[in-house]
Amino acid sequence: MNDHPHHFDETEREAVYRAIRERRDMRHFQRGGRVPEVVLQRLLAAAHQAPSVGLMQPWRIIRIRNPALREAIHALVNEERRRTAEALGVRGEEFLRLKVEGIREAAELLAVVLAPDDGTVFGRRTLPREMALCSAACAIQNLWLASRAENLGMGWVSLFDPQALAERLHLPEGALAIALLCLGPVEGFYPRPMLELEGWRQARPLTEMVFEDRWPETQGSGDGPG
Ligand SMILES: Cc1cc2nc3c(=O)[nH]c(=O)nc-3n(C[C@H](O)[C@H](O)[C@H](O)COP(=O)(O)O)c2cc1C
Repeated sequence: MNDHPHHFDETEREAVYRAIRERRDMRHFQRGGRVPEVVLQRLLAAAHQAPSVGLMQPWRIIRIRNPALREAIHALVNEERRRTAEALGVRGEEFLRLKVEGIREAAELLAVVLAPDDGTVFGRRTLPREMALCSAACAIQNLWLASRAENLGMGWVSLFDPQALAERLHLPEGALAIALLCLGPVEGFYPRPMLELEGWRQARPLTEMVFEDRWPETQGSGDGPG
């Protein structure tokens, strides 16, 4: 047995893999559920422990507390949902039948914003915007996994016009909202990605994603008309 303080034992390791395996993007929430403040603070701390390029910590998190603001955000998402259905062409009607957000029902609504660029160079000279974005996504993934371990559901909603959301949230020039996170108690977790359960799309196996030495000759395709 290894009792070094940095060592994960088998039970701890399995718990980490289980959170990864059983994390789901959730759109169905318990109505009237709540997230205790102490839990929310643990989750926010988990997000804030994410890696970031050059330690720039580009994430900003806005907790939506005003019910009228939440309604307005819901309307923005609905508008984008409609536009997405149009863009999907023949699959538009099918898309409209999917539940793609839980903004009204979730106990908490968090907007994750990429802060205006602070000029960090280390690690992002060639891909500045992308590396900041990746760092903020790491924070969101931490929050997602920690939520699962807290037995709370989380759903990432990206169906919004960033300019319209920026206005609602009074974002400064150069800031970009990248996620609306619905968070809260759920009745149960989907056993598989909801998009699979609904027959929208099937996940592809790892073996199709890992290559050796070069990009292979065949590639997969998306969900849209083009
Ligand atoms: C960047 C990003 C944006 C997403 N946006 C939405 C969204 O707007 N609405 C939605 O229902 N799901 C959204 N999802 C969830 C994905 O559909 C989901 O992760 C995927 O189907 C796999 O399911 P799983 O997360 O349960 O494994 C988003 C996920 C990511 C990573």
